[in-house]
Amino acid sequence: MLLMLRLAEMSKSSENKLDNRLKLCADFVRNGIRLADIGTDHAYLPVWLCRIGRCASAIAADINPDPLKRGRDTIINAGLTDVIETRLSDGLQMFGSNDADDIVIAGMGGELIAKIIGDWQFAKDSTKHYILQPMTKSEVLIKWLCENGFEIIRQDCCVASNKCYTVLLVKYTGEIFARDEVYYYLAKLTPNENENHLMFVKNHINRLEKQAKGDIKYAEISQKLRDIINIK
Ligand SMILES: C[S@@+](CC[C@H](N)C(=O)[O-])C[C@H]1O[C@@H](n2cnc3c(N)ncnc32)[C@H](O)[C@@H]1O
Repeated sequence: MLLMLRLAEMSKSSENKLDNRLKLCADFVRNGIRLADIGTDHAYLPVWLCRIGRCASAIAADINPDPLKRGRDTIINAGLTDVIETRLSDGLQMFGSNDADDIVIAGMGGELIAKIIGDWQFAKDSTKHYILQPMTKSEVLIKWLCENGFEIIRQDCCVASNKCYTVLLVKYTGEIFARDEVYYYLAKLTPNENENHLMFVKNHINRLEKQAKGDIKYAEISQKLRDIINIK
């Protein structure tokens, strides 16, 4: 009984550390799967998902030993060492094809996320789901996904600590579509129906207007986005 109470307390504290951004990533993870969390740092996400029973098991991976140690401590404190393994790995390099079903790559730049997927020899497997949360340059990541046969199945946005973030659910189909440049900024977002999506698109417009000073192409994309959300 005491042990159960202690575990519940610990789980509560790891749950409290799951902010809206990681919660949105967690929402995109399928039930009963084996998770890989690439760039796990504190391992909050795999701990929470295994604790609530959404994931059968998880591998918490990081390129750096210090964050991996922090992750290991969270796992030990949550009493989940039997279901969550830690792994030192540059991206997915230390992963075999059958190590995980759903792969989360969160809290990194869009270019690095694209590189991590592109460098993995087993990435082109349509049974796998990728849950991607770029901190910057989501449009670069989305362009790379489109050009490399990865389809965006779902996309959503959230606000955490007054910042707006996007999360993409992606799988490999092998189909490559020609896209208008504006798609890389919008993808599956519906800014006229969802205020978080609208905030994310407005942030794109602000950035594009700064970039437009160096390249007129960005002014055109910005104007297209303005037209879509009906602002002058
Ligand atoms: C900002 S933290 C994000 C932690 C967590 N995923 C989140 O979203 O809150 C980024 C982590 O990614 C790790 N990282 C950076 N490049 C990586 C790579 N190529 N492979 C694996 N981990 C990487 C860093 O060591 C760091 O712990």
